[in-house]
Amino acid sequence: MASFFNNCYLRLLFLRLNTYMGLLIKNIKGLVQVEDDPKLRVCGKEMSLIDTVSDAYLYLERDLISDFGPMRFLDSNPGKIDLLRDIVIDASGKFVFPSFCDSHTHLVYAGSREGEFTDKIRGLSYEEIARRGGGILNSAMKLNETSEDELFNQSMVRINEIISQGTGAVEIKSGYGLSPESELKMLRVIRRIRENAPLEVKATFLGAHAVPHEYSGRKHEYVNLVINEMIPVVASEQLADYIDVFCDEGFFTAEDTERILMAGIKYGLTAKIHANELAFSGGVQVAVKYNALSVDHLERSGDDEIEALKSSETMPTLLPGSALFLGLPDAPARKMIDAGLPLALASDYNPGSSPSGNMKLVMSLGCIKLKMLPEEVINAATINSAYAMGLSETHGSIARGKIANVFITKEMPSYEFLPYAFGSNMIETVILKGEVIK
Ligand code: NIG
Ligand code: FE
Repeated sequence: MASFFNNCYLRLLFLRLNTYMGLLIKNIKGLVQVEDDPKLRVCGKEMSLIDTVSDAYLYLERDLISDFGPMRFLDSNPGKIDLLRDIVIDASGKFVFPSFCDSHTHLVYAGSREGEFTDKIRGLSYEEIARRGGGILNSAMKLNETSEDELFNQSMVRINEIISQGTGAVEIKSGYGLSPESELKMLRVIRRIRENAPLEVKATFLGAHAVPHEYSGRKHEYVNLVINEMIPVVASEQLADYIDVFCDEGFFTAEDTERILMAGIKYGLTAKIHANELAFSGGVQVAVKYNALSVDHLERSGDDEIEALKSSETMPTLLPGSALFLGLPDAPARKMIDAGLPLALASDYNPGSSPSGNMKLVMSLGCIKLKMLPEEVINAATINSAYAMGLSETHGSIARGKIANVFITKEMPSYEFLPYAFGSNMIETVILKGEVIK
């Protein structure tokens, strides 16, 4: 019998005739971020701790994590694992991580903006480019000229890219439409991605991303349009889970943000906002006041912002890719963690300030630029970013009953090697909902 199943061809034939039951990953050098008692998020000092199992196995059944532990337990008590009917992957020398959760992206967009990249190299700031009609308004113009199908196709290229880079759950914002019709087009594309892609998708309505040309000098009227026309339709068509506002200098004020959040909350949308990227905007305090799930960017954060966050359930989320790309000061990550706060990391994948959705690189930037420890960036890019998109009960760690979203690395000496090797592609195998995708 054993030699029969050592024959690869016959084994595959057998598996095809008998629907396989589970997927066993064995001989794992390190199984990272395991939890016996799952937590919704980790804060302060806890962020520097992660549990790992050396010489481990991980057993997935259908789309769920079923069991894990040291190999010696598997050898002595194989339990329900049926080696005749399960797919088996040998991960000798390799590490297994929970898939990344990317809780902040704008990856549905049309075209690209590398012209502005060159403008920035020549010395223009993000705000100057925006004032000249570039930036978000440039993307809005391109998106208006692009059909829904084409927008979906362009976005799926980015989705497939981030899946191969280890992301298993992604939040995607609208905000390049800036009219009722185009915002709905973006949100429908996000819904199509959710229906077609193997990763988990959350949608955020960001009508207040910029004031469109037609409303120049009439921002109040545009805010009224967002509140009175866009939010009701978005909510009635159930196109969004969250509502966002770009609360920053040159965009929307804390007062605009309050009005929009109040309207969104009335329609059942939870707040998740952009704040304090360009200036001390008051956005952090507004986010906390409206019980936002997360407040993101935070490059300009002082003691008042940290104090406000300490008495809240809001997840501070840092986006070091956009700070790097725009040459912004780094958010005070160390000060925030030392004050006992949790932190999440996300990519901000967008054409203007972060044309990358590579969460492994984001972790490296967390270490290199924000002085976070490898354990802290792993927590920030998994369990805490899952929290920042309302998914930490089902995603963000290796725990029994959670969704079977994991990746297997190439051979590595330690888990710290993942953020350390900042330019290397270390992700070899991607498994989403229990299926091998790459
Ligand atoms: O998160 N800050 C606002 N929105 C995006 C940038 C969008 C763009 O430039 O297209 C961000 O950085
Ligand atoms: Fe953003």
